[in-house]
Amino acid sequence: MAGVEPGPGGGVIRFGRSELRITVTVNGAVFWGWDGAGPEPSYALAGSCPEPDPRAVLEPDKDGGWRVVAERVTVVVSRHGAVQVCTPGGVTLRHDLPPRWWEPVGGGTARWLQRSEVAADARFFGLGGRASGPRLRSGSYRLWNTDPGRAFGPEVDPLYLTMPVQLVVADAGTHLVFHDSTWDGTVVLREGEEGAGSGHDRAGRCELRMDGGPLRCWVIVGTPARVLATWASLTGVPALPPAWALGHHHARWGFGSEQEVRRVVAGYQERDLPLDAVHLDIDHYDGDQVFTVDQERFPKLPVLAEELRRDGIRLVSIVDPAVKAAPGNAVYDGGSARDAFVRDGSGREVRGVVWAGESVFPDFTRARVREWWGGLYAERLAQGFAGFWHDMNEPTSFSAFGEPTLPRSARHDLEGRGGDHREAHNVYALCMARAGYEGLRELAPEERPFVFSRSGWAGMQRYGGTWSGDVATGWPGLRASLSLVLGLGLCGVPYSGPDVGGFDGSPSPELYLRWFQLGAYLPLFRTHAGLRAGRREPWEFGAEVLEHARVALLERRRLLPYWVTLAYLARRTGAPYVRPVWWGSPEDRALRGCEDAFLLGDALLVAPVLDPGVKRRAVQLPRGRWYDTVTEEAYEGPGQVYVNAPLSRIPVLARAGAVIPVRGADGEVELEVWAPARGRTGGGLVVPDAGDGGDGPETERYVARRQGRSVVVTREREGGSAQPPYPVRVRGLG
Ligand code: GLC
Repeated sequence: MAGVEPGPGGGVIRFGRSELRITVTVNGAVFWGWDGAGPEPSYALAGSCPEPDPRAVLEPDKDGGWRVVAERVTVVVSRHGAVQVCTPGGVTLRHDLPPRWWEPVGGGTARWLQRSEVAADARFFGLGGRASGPRLRSGSYRLWNTDPGRAFGPEVDPLYLTMPVQLVVADAGTHLVFHDSTWDGTVVLREGEEGAGSGHDRAGRCELRMDGGPLRCWVIVGTPARVLATWASLTGVPALPPAWALGHHHARWGFGSEQEVRRVVAGYQERDLPLDAVHLDIDHYDGDQVFTVDQERFPKLPVLAEELRRDGIRLVSIVDPAVKAAPGNAVYDGGSARDAFVRDGSGREVRGVVWAGESVFPDFTRARVREWWGGLYAERLAQGFAGFWHDMNEPTSFSAFGEPTLPRSARHDLEGRGGDHREAHNVYALCMARAGYEGLRELAPEERPFVFSRSGWAGMQRYGGTWSGDVATGWPGLRASLSLVLGLGLCGVPYSGPDVGGFDGSPSPELYLRWFQLGAYLPLFRTHAGLRAGRREPWEFGAEVLEHARVALLERRRLLPYWVTLAYLARRTGAPYVRPVWWGSPEDRALRGCEDAFLLGDALLVAPVLDPGVKRRAVQLPRGRWYDTVTEEAYEGPGQVYVNAPLSRIPVLARAGAVIPVRGADGEVELEVWAPARGRTGGGLVVPDAGDGGDGPETERYVARRQGRSVVVTREREGGSAQPPYPVRVRGLG
């Protein structure tokens, strides 16, 4: 070690050939960077890096090392450059060996390798959207957003949306690690193993190799809720979806005409099935070109949009980034005139092949290109679209560059710094989302933009959500779709959901129904399928499925006030709507191993059916009393119980004491309260919808108390408690 230089929130530690900078920031996150790497510039951070925490100081540790002591974490640096992240109680959560990097002989960016160890009992989650999770088992996970080119199941990795974000849960504590480099990388995980009384524990291992980019890292330590709150304060709070986006969406690649859209909508209406949005895929474009409409088959889109809107249904448009490279195509001409498209080293436009044929790609890493692109949404708004579905933005090109994307040598602006596709690839969709979101804010400031995007990166929640892409129709695909939503939520992207029924082929009635029942409890609830796939309307699978799908749709609508509350809470606290069952008790190992159930907010536990023929299933409960929301039967946690899961419903349990805002029979909000166990209290939060635009009213707090055989609910405010302004309905009193 060659010396230290204390500074605000930490300092710089110098070694023979390098230096390490450590800073604890005011939100409690720890940053460190090697070899001069600072926290900025960064595509992940929302705005600039938070201020250093002046209370965190660099001080000498034993054996010639140093440490930074902060409120929730202590970082110990050995004299060889190993970095240990410890709890305030001194237990090690993560041990990073000194990193290694290789400078290329001819100059240029260094590749690097970071090896880390975690506790033997630790479990890994995150890394963006992974089909094989939510628990990431031993194996190799690539960090390179990729369209797999076919419908995927759990065995396919990587997918469209990767992120160097890991959430690690162990007995000693939970931590999130973010390696802030956008380059291609690979994470090799090895779960640890405990000696079980004999022999030694084998630590969990993580090896991260990056092809370039700064060797820098953020670590956040705390409870899962606190970790996600800090992550949101670092990378941005999630965009608030409009309330209609929390309803039911129906999409199809290949509606083919306005008449067909009307026919499907009428099918919902005739059967009294709630429908909130219809998505138009590329087949409504003119010649598959984005920002155009096929005037023959969709001659009066604004009229259709207006009619639907009167019935409470919004139109959503797919938006693909590729632009057909054809002079005369207005988007191409406009982009060319502004030099908006990605070029190669010799200055030629890089061409790929996407739906419309030979295409060019806007360089979304350039501010003025984002501005131009954002302005193009005016055409979509004029057509009557209310939401936007970004697709093919890994970016995908079918032409054989070796990989289904742009050549690595393609040049990008990277906010004026200049660089190539190796660095820009993973943030291409993030920057496209920013372009769309910011454009919409300008064009329609009174509405909350609704953008969701197939690809993305850390921080994308600032602009919107995502969906699971082309998940394969089959029971493994059903499981994969839950894995994706859970994993993304733990990476800070709370709004997502699968193509219900799967993207390809035709699900059996049972599979369709089980997917539908799961989808009804995921933030994006959308039926969709590919061009050659079977139909996905709920009435296409027989009378029995239709009846049960209706129940799921009505329950979704009844819970809308709860969904709206969860959306606001995600924005206010960073907590995803859909959470692993261990969210409130990460130390419970049985819960940590549970991958087939989830918490929806604080109040509900959803136990979907993920296998054929199942009519009863085991559920691993967190502590406390839980009620089956249909039978009101009570179960006591922690522990495993068996609950009925007839074809008509998947088990949904309510936490005793929960106060849940629901839509009453008259359409107004009422509070559904689940009786607290004797001697206990409960409660819940409500954020009423403020309509479009605003950031919403204050969070209302309710407390439920058991009084003999009845339950009393009060609203708690600074001035004291009061009667709730909504009707209250108590359940579970037996
Ligand atoms: C991609 C999308 C899919 C869409 C299709 C046609 O496969 O993932 O959702 O339907 O393209 O646009």
